[in-house]
Amino acid sequence: MADRLTGKVAIVTGGGSYGDDVGTGRATAVCLAREGAKVLVADINEANAMNTVEAVRADSGGDATTFVGDATCSADSRAMIESAVERYGGLHVLVNNLGFGGRSVAWGNQRGLTDLNEARWQQAIKLNLNSAMLASKHAIAPMTTTGGGSIINMSSVDGLVTSMNYSMQYGVSKGALIMLTKATAVWHGRSGIRANCIAPGHLHSAFTSHMDTELRDRRRRVTPLGTEGTPWDVAWAAVFLASDESRWISGVTIPVDGGVLAEQPLMGYEFISEEVASADTDG
Ligand SMILES: NC(=O)c1ccc[n+]([C@@H]2O[C@H](COP(=O)([O-])OP(=O)(O)OC[C@H]3O[C@@H](n4cnc5c(N)ncnc54)[C@H](O)[C@@H]3O)[C@@H](O)[C@H]2O)c1
Repeated sequence: MADRLTGKVAIVTGGGSYGDDVGTGRATAVCLAREGAKVLVADINEANAMNTVEAVRADSGGDATTFVGDATCSADSRAMIESAVERYGGLHVLVNNLGFGGRSVAWGNQRGLTDLNEARWQQAIKLNLNSAMLASKHAIAPMTTTGGGSIINMSSVDGLVTSMNYSMQYGVSKGALIMLTKATAVWHGRSGIRANCIAPGHLHSAFTSHMDTELRDRRRRVTPLGTEGTPWDVAWAAVFLASDESRWISGVTIPVDGGVLAEQPLMGYEFISEEVASADTDG
């Protein structure tokens, strides 16, 4: 075990992952614990959370326990924060990892505002934005008592630019999460609270396990590095933002995206065409 986070207590919301796939929540919990943090893995599904706790123990023998509750419910969210403080004596790091896609295919091919499902819009706001607001709200007081803390919100490149692979409400709620991050950083900076966002790009994780190989390949090819990201790429960014190495970084959004946000849209098209052309030439 390394020691970048020794002495710190962390919570990861949506910290389980569906099935055996590794999601950003599970990878983040594993890496935080590997660096010495005590981790509360919070999830609505006990089995998912327990799988992550077991992954932590197998990886580093680190200290992780589960909390079962609904992150969109204020009482559960408060109980989650209290539980970390009671078990571990304080709170330094909150990773609001929970997120829900609402991909356009599974959601009846809805496109844009004209056929937007209002109930699903509210659901996305609840899962992607309200859950982070609630956990952060309840975390401020104990973090302040502990001497400050780091809140890390899991946004997406879709919160910065619009994609039609997921529902409109996904991108809009992830964009609002970036503004929640800035507001948290400004309103609570004087209490020693830092708040930052991670914007994952086209990585493959539990969250994207529904994608067929063609879509995965297109996401890879459009990325300047030409490779597919993993949940571990996101997890190491979270470790940095959780640690004192980032003590003077607050209110920012860090893309973990292989460079996709740096490229001019036409470039993505050219990357794809170039690979197709060279594949044709190769035979
Ligand atoms: N993989 C990608 O390409 C990508 C890209 C951009 C952003 N992201 C973001 O990464 C995050 C994905 O996280 P993951 O990979 O750990 O997801 P995941 O799908 O593996 O796991 C989500 C977990 O959340 C739990 N959960 C669902 N509803 C809950 C609730 N109401 N309260 C508490 N827990 C609940 C589930 O039980 C599950 O264990 C999301 O925020 C997503 O928007 C992923």
